[in-house]
Amino acid sequence: MKFPDQLSDLYKYMQAELVRAGIQTASQDARMIIQKHTGYEWADIIASPDIKIKKEALIEIEKDILRRINGEPVSRILGEREFWGLKFKINEETLDPRPDTEMLVEIALRSCVGKQPQTILDLGTGSGCILIALLKEFPDAIGVGIDKSLSALKIARYNAKYNEVEERSSFFCGFWGQALNKKFDLIVSNPPYISNQIIPTLPKEVQNYDPILALEGGNDGLKAYRDILKEINAYIKQGGIALFEIGYDQQKDVMRLAEESGFSVRDVHHDFAGQARVVDISCGDK
Ligand SMILES: C[S@@+](CC[C@H](N)C(=O)[O-])C[C@H]1O[C@@H](n2cnc3c(N)ncnc32)[C@H](O)[C@@H]1O
Repeated sequence: MKFPDQLSDLYKYMQAELVRAGIQTASQDARMIIQKHTGYEWADIIASPDIKIKKEALIEIEKDILRRINGEPVSRILGEREFWGLKFKINEETLDPRPDTEMLVEIALRSCVGKQPQTILDLGTGSGCILIALLKEFPDAIGVGIDKSLSALKIARYNAKYNEVEERSSFFCGFWGQALNKKFDLIVSNPPYISNQIIPTLPKEVQNYDPILALEGGNDGLKAYRDILKEINAYIKQGGIALFEIGYDQQKDVMRLAEESGFSVRDVHHDFAGQARVVDISCGDK
């Protein structure tokens, strides 16, 4: 590829290459990659189209365009993702936070109107996106994020510092909440919930770039819910709320597992596509 060195021409060239590769977000991706390596934004492309781009930046841009053409998600190339209006660093051991998961944050805010949680637990915290978003929304709360991946926890700590909730958050390595010795007002979790048989059929962008630990939910996709719901009584406060993201076909099974563990399901929330997405469980009355 012969990359032009003037800003606007470069943008148009990159966009055309991405379109040719069948990438639907070509314009946005081209702009984000330019910004990563030059600092120039969309406004600069419009206002100063003739700016010359340094050769070193062009070399890096070309590498990233090839990665994108080969199917790597742009968030992986940039090493960051926006979630709940905040910026999160990601790495190969964190799930790339999905916009759908913002619904968990939204439901937590709705569920806690009039009784703000003082303590929040995020099981399978990954990049820390859910916990950190909630700590921004509940300024008096403190939170704990747990993950099995040490590398993900490093990123979550970085994200907590970057988003200025470092002093109110702690991150620990563990098998769900097994090592906890305190109880929480609000528990949130987006656990791995894809069954082993489905994993090989996932889009390549997911299969090749999201960590398997963040995806695989055992033979029926329900292993994490089973494990968590078996033990959650030990760390949810009386009157506490637990919110779980679920797969589109898991509503009945997760409700059954919750009820078998002695919890009442307060609600099942559906997304804009009408699919069940968040199961809302309560532990008795306060
Ligand atoms: C679907 S990802 C969610 C990550 C993040 N909360 C988000 O929504 O983007 C599930 C997370 O659970 C973690 N995990 C998987 N098994 C675990 C276990 N037994 N105990 C703790 N964390 C686990 C994975 O490492 C991964 O970070």
